[in-house]
Amino acid sequence: MKRIIIALDGFSACGKSTLAKDLAKKLHYSYVDSGAMYRAVTLYFIENGVSLEDPIAIESALKDIHVEFHRNPETKANETWLNGINVEKSIRKMEISNLVSEVAALKAVRREMVALQRKAGKKRGIVMDGRDIGSNVFPDAELKIFLTARPEVRAQRRYDELVEKGTPESMEKVVENLAHRDHIDSTREENPLIQCSDARVLDNSDLSKSEQLETVFRWANELKETISPLP
Ligand code: CDP
Repeated sequence: MKRIIIALDGFSACGKSTLAKDLAKKLHYSYVDSGAMYRAVTLYFIENGVSLEDPIAIESALKDIHVEFHRNPETKANETWLNGINVEKSIRKMEISNLVSEVAALKAVRREMVALQRKAGKKRGIVMDGRDIGSNVFPDAELKIFLTARPEVRAQRRYDELVEKGTPESMEKVVENLAHRDHIDSTREENPLIQCSDARVLDNSDLSKSEQLETVFRWANELKETISPLP
């Protein structure tokens, strides 16, 4: 059976990572959280005082940034590492969420991250979630999914997630951050978030984790059957 590329795009906090992780596990594929890469770059910029107005500082910082994913042997989950340090927890904080869309809109940042993402997908057999995966990173992905959910459902999910992670924020701040990022992500010049015409749309507002997984797993299998094996 041919191994395919699955691109999962959508607005902030609609559950892309959960679905992408579950699907990758079920298919024995690798999973890449492209948003975590932009979050790690943002963390580096904040920690090192890199100004978003300074293209020379940005280029030089990008040369020093090494983002990797490592499996946590205890939880078995993939975690984000920046220059040899596990940053999985710190990149999810509101301080990062408040700046990440501005950082991700920078051309130089996207050039570097997209190159890394394409490298990760070279052997196919991958599920990647983000904003421009189907439209830009892998326009030839066999399966493109556009995930969506009602704004109030997304806000509640992110609120619960932050509480669970021990970094709670007020609902007001969560709602504000999601609206802010959605706006920048969909209106930026470089590879904005768009719904590709060849993407299958899934609104998971009223679906459980297993129901959404069942749907996309079926889509992936239908496709794999129609794809001829590699020569
Ligand atoms: O999980 P959540 O919806 O909060 O967002 P994320 O996937 O962690 O992505 C964080 C931010 O990175 C997004 O708001 C985008 O600004 C940016 N991003 C992007 O520009 N392109 C991607 N392929 C993935 C994320």
